[in-house]
Amino acid sequence: MHKTVTLNEESAPAVDLAKCRAILLKYNSATSADLIPVLQQIQDAYGYLPQNTLEEITARTRIPLSKIYGVVTFYSQFSLEPRGKHTIKVCTGTACHIKGAPEIKKKITEVLQVDERQTTQDYKFTYEPVACLGTCFLAPVMMINDRYYGKLTVEKTETILKSY
Ligand code: FES
Repeated sequence: MHKTVTLNEESAPAVDLAKCRAILLKYNSATSADLIPVLQQIQDAYGYLPQNTLEEITARTRIPLSKIYGVVTFYSQFSLEPRGKHTIKVCTGTACHIKGAPEIKKKITEVLQVDERQTTQDYKFTYEPVACLGTCFLAPVMMINDRYYGKLTVEKTETILKSY
């Protein structure tokens, strides 16, 4: 399923294309087969995929912009908007749901003042619900970056968020 994307000109200004051009130079005659590695490297370089980098890919390859957007919106690893320094993934799977994930999600929204799939105004956190983190024995569980936090309570969640 395609993720929903909102392009916001104010929050996603044009960026300096030097890093993007250096990446594209490595793919002299880039084809559609190169698109995913090119996008991954550009996202690594900028932290997300600024709109003008996608236009630059089109200008320097024969890959149509519509095809690039198709790939970017299909894969959840890609982001068209600046992301927070830390990514919070909260499990919404059955085990976590039963053990209190809805209250944990409510607490995150309250503390960070963001809804699901949003980034805090200070770009500190991006908040994403996920289907199952594969650690159901820790339910309810969330991850911040690569670290798991299990057997969460509302109080514990608030303390963890404030420790970042
Ligand atoms: S249901 Fe939450 S980790 Fe599996």
